[in-house]
Amino acid sequence: MQKIILISSIFLTLLISCTSNKENNQNKMSNNNSTSNTYANYNHVAIKHIDLDLKVDFENQIIEGFATYTIKKIQQTDTIILDAKKLDIIEVLSADKSKNLTYQLGENNELFGQALIISLIEGETTFHIRYKTQPSADALQWLEASQTANKNTPLLFSQSQAILARTWIPLQDVPAVRFTYNTKVTVPKEMIALMSATNPQAKNSDGVYNFSMTQPIPSYLMAITVGDFEFKAIGERCGVYAEKVLLDIAAYEFEDMESMLLSAEKLYGKYLWDRYDVVVMPPSFPFGGMENPKLTFATPTIIAGDKSLVSLIAHELAHSWSGNLVTNATWDDFWLNEGFTVYLERRIMEEIEGKDYSDILALIGWDDLQNTLKDFEKDIHKTKLKQDLDSKDPDESMNDIAYEKGYAFLIVLEKYFGREIFDKFLLSYFNLHKFKSLTTEDFLDYAKVNLFSSKENSYNDLKIEEWIYETGLPSNAIKPKALLFDEVEQEIARQTNKGELNKELTKNWNTHQWIHFLRNTKALITTDYIKKYDEIYQFTTSRNSEILAIWFEHCVEKNYTDVNNELKNFLTNVGRRKFIVPLYKLLVKGNQTQKEFAINVYKQARKGYHSVAVNTLDEILK
Ligand code: BES
Ligand code: ZN
Repeated sequence: MQKIILISSIFLTLLISCTSNKENNQNKMSNNNSTSNTYANYNHVAIKHIDLDLKVDFENQIIEGFATYTIKKIQQTDTIILDAKKLDIIEVLSADKSKNLTYQLGENNELFGQALIISLIEGETTFHIRYKTQPSADALQWLEASQTANKNTPLLFSQSQAILARTWIPLQDVPAVRFTYNTKVTVPKEMIALMSATNPQAKNSDGVYNFSMTQPIPSYLMAITVGDFEFKAIGERCGVYAEKVLLDIAAYEFEDMESMLLSAEKLYGKYLWDRYDVVVMPPSFPFGGMENPKLTFATPTIIAGDKSLVSLIAHELAHSWSGNLVTNATWDDFWLNEGFTVYLERRIMEEIEGKDYSDILALIGWDDLQNTLKDFEKDIHKTKLKQDLDSKDPDESMNDIAYEKGYAFLIVLEKYFGREIFDKFLLSYFNLHKFKSLTTEDFLDYAKVNLFSSKENSYNDLKIEEWIYETGLPSNAIKPKALLFDEVEQEIARQTNKGELNKELTKNWNTHQWIHFLRNTKALITTDYIKKYDEIYQFTTSRNSEILAIWFEHCVEKNYTDVNNELKNFLTNVGRRKFIVPLYKLLVKGNQTQKEFAINVYKQARKGYHSVAVNTLDEILK
C-alpha cells in the first residue's frame, strides 16, 4: 500500500511538471522535454544504446527479453524512469550483473502503461532488465499459420508507432530520445527474424539472428517481424521480403524502388541508412505502411498487379529523410513527420511518373483534407497543425490534418519562394538536423533564418502562425489542379445528364481516375442503378483494394446487399484501419440488418485484427 502511494505521488509530480511545461508551448526551446505521453525523465538521463537478447516463443505468444542499457546523465540523478506497459519485469541488474537494482512499477494507466522507476548505482552507466511480454502486448500481433499467405507457418509482427514500443521493450518511449541498438533474436528454426536494422537475407539452420542499428533512432522505430519470409533483390541497395507465394509479384510491384531511392537522394541528399528493403506483411497489418528504418513494413493491399498503389512505398521511403533522419520531438509535432513526407512522396512520384501523376495524388489529398475539415467541424481544435495532445492518445492526431494540411502548407512555401530556393532549403534542413528530433518551433526558428529572411515580410504575408497554430485552412492555401481528372468530371457530368453507361469511354482510366469517379458519384450511383454500375464496371471483382474499399462504401450506403459475401470477405481478411473503419462506421449507421451484419462480421473478424484496429473498432461497435 505504501508503495502504491509513493509511486502514485511520483506519478503525480511527473504529471504536474508535464502540465506546467505545456504552458509555454509557443516558446519551446530545442530539446524541450514537455510531452505528456511518457513517464521517462529523459532530460535528466537518456538511453544511448540498447543490447537486446530476445527469445520469441510462439507457443505462449511471448517474447522473453534481456536488455542491457547504456545511459548518459544530463543532470545529477540517481533514478531512471522508463516506460513499460503490460510487461512482466523479472529482475533489474547492476552493470556487472552482481547486484539487483531496486525498482518500482507505477500505477497502471490504460493508455500509457506504467513508470518503471529504477534506482541507479552511483557512477554506473549500464544496467540490465530481464523481462517478458504478455500475449496481449499491444504492439505485437501473433498470427496463426492460417492467417498468413503461405498458410503453413505462424507469423509475428510489431507496430510500435506511436507509443506501443513500451509493450515489448522497456524504454524511454518518446521520440525526443534516440539510441542505437544491437539484437540477438532466437526464433523457431523454420522462421527468419527481421528488424529495423541490418537484416539477414536467408534463413539459417539454428534460428539465431543478429542485428545492428548503428544510426540513432527513436523508440517508435523499433520493429520486429518473424515468419516464413524469403528475400528477392530489386537493385543494388533495395529488395523485398515476402512469404514465398507473394515474393515474385511483390518484387514486380515494387520494381521502381531503386529509382525512387535515387530520385529522393538527388533532391534531399544521400540516403544514410545503407539498405532500403520492404517486407510484405499479412493483410491484418493495421496501416498501409510503416517506415521502420532500413525495412519498411507494408500492407499486401498495395499489391494491385499494376504498380498503381506504389506511391505508398515512395511515402515510406521518404520518411528516411523526414521522420527517421529528422524526427518530430513530440507527437504534437507529428505534422513535421507526415506533412513533409507527403510533400517528399509527391516529389518522388513526380520524378518517377511525371507531373500529371503527382498532380492527381495532390488533388486526391486535397479532397481528403476537405473531408477531414468537415468531419472536424465540431472538433475544430483537431484541425491545428501543431497539436496539443496533452494526456491524450497520440493516435488521435493520425488524420489528414498532419498529412494534407501539412502538405498544403509546404506547397504554399514552395510556390512562394520557388522550387530552386525551397529545394535547397529542404536539403540543408535535413542535412543540418540529421539524427535529431525537432519541435515545430525548432523548425520555425530554422526557417526564419534560412528561408523567410530571404523575402521581406514573408513570414506575415504567408500567414505562417495561422498555418501552424490556428484551426481550419488559411485563405492562401492553393487547390491543386489535375488534368487527368477533367476527363473524369466530364464523364460524371455526361452520366448525370442521363448519358448511357458506356465502358468504352473509360477503358483507359487509371486507378486514381476511378477513385476520383467513385468519390464523386455518391449521388449518381443510386439504389436503383447500383447493380447496373457493378455489371458494367465490375467494381466488386476489382483486384484493387482502394477501388474496392470505396465501392463497398457505395454499396453499404445504398444497402446493396448482393455484395455482402464479398464485403464480409474483405472485412475479415483485411485489417488495414483506413479501409475497414469507414465501412464499419457506415454499416453501424445503417438499418437494423446492416447493424447486425456489422456486429456479426466483427465478432468473427476481431481476433484477426491488430490491437490498433481493435481499439478504434471497439469504440464504433460497442
Ligand atoms: N508512420 C505512418 C503510419 C503511422 C502513423 C502509424 C501514426 C502509427 C501512428 C506511415 O508512414 C503512414 O503514414 N502510412 C500511411 C500511408 C501513407 C501513404 C499516407 C498509411 O498507413 O495509410
Ligand atoms: Zn507517413
